[in-house]
Amino acid sequence: MAANQDSEDPEEEIPFENEIDGLLARLTLKEKVGQLNQLNGSEQTGPAVEDVDLEDEIRNGKVGSVLNADGLENRERYQRIAVEETEHGVPLLFGYDVIHGFRTLSPIPLGEAASWDPDAVRASANVAAAEASASGIHWTFGPPVDVARDARWGRSMETSGEDPYLAGELAAARVRGFQGDDLTAADTVLACAKHYAAYGEVKAGREYNTVDISESTLRDIHLPPFEAAVTEGVGTVMNAFTVFEGIPAGASKRLVRDVLKDEWAFDGFVVSDWNSFREFIYHGVAGDERDAAELAIEAGSDMDMVGHIYTNELVNLVEDGTIDEALVDDAVRRVLRSKYRLGLFEDPYRYFDDERRKETVLNETHREIVRDVARKSIVLMKNERDVLPLDDVDSIAVVGALADSADDVLGDWRGCGRPEDAVSVLDGIEGTVDNAEVRYAQGCDRSGMVSATLREEAIETVEETDVAVVAVGESYELSGEASSRSDIDLPGEQQELLEALQATGTPVVAVLMNGRPLALPWLSENVPAILETWFLGTEAGDAIADVLFGNHQPSGRLPMSFPQTVGQVPIHYNHLPTGRPQHRAEAGWGTSYLDIPNDPLYAFGHGLSYTTFEYADLELGASTIKMNEPLSIGLTVENIGDVVGTEVVQVYIHDLVGSRARPVKELKRFRKLELEPGERREVTFEIESDDLAFWTADEVFAAEPGEFDVMIGHASDDIRLTDSFELRA
Ligand code: NOJ
Repeated sequence: MAANQDSEDPEEEIPFENEIDGLLARLTLKEKVGQLNQLNGSEQTGPAVEDVDLEDEIRNGKVGSVLNADGLENRERYQRIAVEETEHGVPLLFGYDVIHGFRTLSPIPLGEAASWDPDAVRASANVAAAEASASGIHWTFGPPVDVARDARWGRSMETSGEDPYLAGELAAARVRGFQGDDLTAADTVLACAKHYAAYGEVKAGREYNTVDISESTLRDIHLPPFEAAVTEGVGTVMNAFTVFEGIPAGASKRLVRDVLKDEWAFDGFVVSDWNSFREFIYHGVAGDERDAAELAIEAGSDMDMVGHIYTNELVNLVEDGTIDEALVDDAVRRVLRSKYRLGLFEDPYRYFDDERRKETVLNETHREIVRDVARKSIVLMKNERDVLPLDDVDSIAVVGALADSADDVLGDWRGCGRPEDAVSVLDGIEGTVDNAEVRYAQGCDRSGMVSATLREEAIETVEETDVAVVAVGESYELSGEASSRSDIDLPGEQQELLEALQATGTPVVAVLMNGRPLALPWLSENVPAILETWFLGTEAGDAIADVLFGNHQPSGRLPMSFPQTVGQVPIHYNHLPTGRPQHRAEAGWGTSYLDIPNDPLYAFGHGLSYTTFEYADLELGASTIKMNEPLSIGLTVENIGDVVGTEVVQVYIHDLVGSRARPVKELKRFRKLELEPGERREVTFEIESDDLAFWTADEVFAAEPGEFDVMIGHASDDIRLTDSFELRA
């Protein structure tokens, strides 16, 4: 950490806190409350609230932060007003949703999670941070670190999927990528772990719906990625819109003050979500705005995003003695601390350098970095008869409106990304092949609808070519905020189109685009090759062509289970056992459906390569370990195919007997290995008793002595090696 950052050395931290003390003493109560107020610039990322004149509000010392301010010039103008026209000149903090890139876009977060590659993910977050910071943004509302277990939920696309460990590793990587180790550096911004907490559990996958989960699910599944982000030093946390045990997250003293600020010693600040303090009234836990303000400040939620609840109510609440001014001071201290950490008091204009912006935004290095992570995010779901890679074809049909769209590949939460910067699938294929003819047929529109003409044209084109690359899936606006779906199959008539193309006898490669797992039983049964490409961002088409033609080996693995049908949802690999497990039950009396199997279509961790790997020689360092003693796990992996390939070795455990039922499998470690044909590599992992901890029946997070199975393999449903060990007290 650089000086003036979170130094371990108390000598260095005191000057900051001293300056904050001094400033707090000079600010009036009204000015302090102004620091807790965030107003909107131009772009609306939520329903309209109260209309005010932003510049007047800043001039009157009533604004601490602005989100969605458009363009460097506007940001600089607002900053000048705050610094030069208010009594104490406290600089503003500019926030923006830089979720998977600013202008150069990486894959959507769910897609990027499929890379299982924290280094690549860190690098992609760093590109986003460099471009945002060069454009006058100090603070991104990312990373989203919610765990998503219901594919109907449109915001699954913002998450790292269903597993708390993978989500935690990627949360830490993104925080590192956004914040670096010096927030004053030119390529860093303040990060925000959101949405705290358990938003991914909205009932029936319906956006903004209620959440009703146990404390153990909260602690074991939803909190670990937030804790990982806090451990990595994330500067801010955003409240979820949803409730935990009937209390809106921003009003939950337990979540915010007790767990986040006390248990985890988080010293940054907590921002509401868009108008979410006012929504306490609609939830029915606050009678009016005054109640809402009181609940939020007591809970420890520090900044009010666009709601005007704090500016309308906090002064009165302090003056009539309802709340202690110390609560306001603590919230303001946290906001000011962030501004100091960003170096804003030293130079409030350091982020407004147009030359730097021009050199940084969309530069070639950034494009290369996002192409790299995009390639790594592609999952080869199926590859019968080795249809892929396409190394011996004279003609290729490219079909589907999505294949010709440089818009959809950007996905939702696209920041300042623009279609004109992006490479569509068709462009990528055309730019890659030298010796084959490429013919395009639209086949269906973006919503999947097929007309007789489109259908005929597509059939004819496919009949005349050696292979058909058909882009199918969702247009980008079908996932994201407020974009839940009750059905998660291929929209429109895309399946009928595929059936007709498949009937031509030309091999079909389905290139999927989607922001959530889809239910694709027909596709999976009938189409020989399926490539999951999510929405891969600016370099999508090039990255897809890299994998289609074998210039890059597919190495992505699913971060979320793909169900057989929507009826299986929520489905996740790390479920608890039941009292009537299917495999033990007499026919008819096990946990099951009458009409569908229990297993997903594609399991968590699934993903193929153009080669095959063999696992051997599992060796545990000991058969018994004591608390806090590490256990080493050794094995070898060999590439037994003819081409180079990347394997993701996955380590799962199962705690056989616990004070609460334990998941049938839990991911604890993973490693990506690139192996030459015939190459064999030794791999060693180490786990500790902390890795075995969970929310026990005694309501503590701890490991319990007993037997554990270790399962190592290629996917959660493809375990190749097993052993067990005992943990002793
Ligand atoms: C609402 C979304 O829930 C949140 O993720 C986002 O950061 C804010 N709007 C600001 O755009």
